[in-house]
Amino acid sequence: MDIAVIGSNMVDLVSYLSRMPDEGETVEAWDFEMGCGGKGANQAMAAARMGSSVLMLTRIGNDAFGETTRRNFEANGIDTTYVLETEATSGVAPIFVDDNSRNSIVIAKGANAFLTPADIEDAAEAIAQCSLIVLQLEVNLETVYAAIDFGNRHGIPVLLNPAPATPELDFAQVAKCDYFVPNETELALLTGMPVETLDQVQAAAGTILDHGVKNIIVTMGSRGVLWLSAAGPVLVEGRAVPALDTTGAGDAFIGCFSHCLVESGDVPASLATANAYAADSVTRRGTQTSYATREQFEKTGA
Ligand code: RIB
Ligand code: NA
Repeated sequence: MDIAVIGSNMVDLVSYLSRMPDEGETVEAWDFEMGCGGKGANQAMAAARMGSSVLMLTRIGNDAFGETTRRNFEANGIDTTYVLETEATSGVAPIFVDDNSRNSIVIAKGANAFLTPADIEDAAEAIAQCSLIVLQLEVNLETVYAAIDFGNRHGIPVLLNPAPATPELDFAQVAKCDYFVPNETELALLTGMPVETLDQVQAAAGTILDHGVKNIIVTMGSRGVLWLSAAGPVLVEGRAVPALDTTGAGDAFIGCFSHCLVESGDVPASLATANAYAADSVTRRGTQTSYATREQFEKTGA
């Protein structure tokens, strides 16, 4: 296995609206789609579609959504040995996308809240074979911290996407990660610093570098990607594309970046490819449904 994703899965319930509802207001969606999502599963899917072999450690509920999620992993060649069933509802994410392609997401974690450090130990042998561990924050922090620790103990690089961001995140744990990949909103929340200008983003990311993380990668949508390491800042320019639905674009970036990094070890080249891959995904509707296969991407998106 190339990559172990330890994290969440959700079923996305996406309503397309002309505008977001105000408080107490009912608005009608002009369209609706259901699809597989969840930040962990999305990242696993993007990496798998690009050609990585991916192990997913996650918890699904014992309901129809859990079955849908399991079958979706299988259909895309993701290893489901550690897709564990739980007596709970599956994670779901009601999502609103407006006509400006802006989105609002609610997550109800369900079974995801039952993923524990013990689950990591049960999958230890398989995870230890992987070249990269990829994490997000839709499961309990103690599980995320146990995964970071596992990576450190086994000499496996760890990538942490602090999404959704929480002020409870312990920077002593973040410091143990090799790649820390927030978007600018998450960076602002985690540092309490402004991120309006590129200089501000760089200053905020710099405070995280000071904690001891080796690489900070800030995704900024159409503004591009800023990579900060001991070698100094590198900006990957954004791509102007007609955005239809940006839901899951950050996950597309992380999955593709993880794939490229494991394949090539070349950070700047991997950032450029992932930037193009994420931009390609926003031109199509939905979350995982908008992630290209490597073939499709090389033909039209790269
Ligand atoms: O990052 C996008 C994802 O956030 C959606 O798929 C939704 O499930 C939430 O987890
Ligand atoms: Na999309």
